[in-house]
Amino acid sequence: MILRRFIKKYKNTINQSKDKLKIIIKEFNMILVVGGAGYIGSHLNKEISKKGYKTVVFDNLSYGHEEFVKWGTFVQGDLGNIQDIRSVFEKYPIEAVMHFAAFTYVGESVEDPQKYYLNNVKNTLNLLQVMLEKNVKQFIFSSTCATYGNPVEIPITENHPQNPINPYGRGKLMVEQFLNDYNKAYRLEYASLRYFNAAGADPDGEIGESHNPETHLIPLILDVAAGKRDDVKIFGTDYNTPDGTCIRDYIHVTDLADAHILALKYLERGGKSDFFNLGNGNGFSVKEVIETAREITCKNIKAVETERRPGDPPILVGSSLKAREVLKWKPKYDDLSKIIETAWNWHKRL
Ligand code: UFG
Repeated sequence: MILRRFIKKYKNTINQSKDKLKIIIKEFNMILVVGGAGYIGSHLNKEISKKGYKTVVFDNLSYGHEEFVKWGTFVQGDLGNIQDIRSVFEKYPIEAVMHFAAFTYVGESVEDPQKYYLNNVKNTLNLLQVMLEKNVKQFIFSSTCATYGNPVEIPITENHPQNPINPYGRGKLMVEQFLNDYNKAYRLEYASLRYFNAAGADPDGEIGESHNPETHLIPLILDVAAGKRDDVKIFGTDYNTPDGTCIRDYIHVTDLADAHILALKYLERGGKSDFFNLGNGNGFSVKEVIETAREITCKNIKAVETERRPGDPPILVGSSLKAREVLKWKPKYDDLSKIIETAWNWHKRL
């Protein structure tokens, strides 16, 4: 009775102390952002740092940009070298890992599958091995809609069959399967996030999309707008879609970053390990993307119609209902113009 009265009287103080304790724990613990110098990883690093988390970015800079690591601590290291991974866990109080480091060129994965399996699969096993050794049990994984292969129904939900059609997608699916096994055997808790087409740039213009070589549609279009390329090729105009060009679900990179933070919070509050699609749920054709970019940039972007690119499914549009319901994710950039505008604001300064 006395205890209950005490709790009632000091409820607010107790709750405030709990919040303070959480902040103190956050101060000491760090999030390891593997591949945090890359496109999506660097945007996550910015957003999660804004929320008060401390980060350690681990990247071998094979594709990443050191100048994108403007938040947290940077450690240059390679997932292929298990000692590099061990030393980062020994030096910093890591409480959770977000893993963005991967090769992402679908065509290249067909030509050189070993390169993809060694980096995207074997090196991920190295990372998981050290996590288990060091008893770090929260993992957010960058997966992809490429694990589904050719869709049999649109929109694609998480229950859609997974029949990847290239080594890139197969490697990502293998890791998803390992995660499931590791969860059961070692209680490693994970959220595997299946991205649709990541696009756009940090709205403050501090970081953006820069690949070498560049193969992605929006940066290529913006190169033409900026006068750095003569034209953009439209890969195929004879698909079974309203204007004959491929349809994709473009999702803003900052919205992707937000989903990672929500997934981490979900695991922190004991949420069950799971897979989540991250897309806008709207599809835009290649021609629509080019037309929108013309409106945003006020440039006459020259487009040349060419053959299909092998391995491109005609339509990829995801349902992200599960992420919205379970993670309470609400993408802010649900409009293609807004996505392209942020990309252009960054791109035109390069
Ligand atoms: N496209 C063109 N011309 C170009 C480049 C692309 O017409 O110069 C078309 C493609 O054929 C495709 C669409 O634009 O229909 C988007 O192509 P991107 O290369 O920008 O993106 P992808 O859909 O091929 O790739 C994305 C991710 C991959 C992921 C894949 C899953 O970048 O990491 O989705 O299918 F694996």
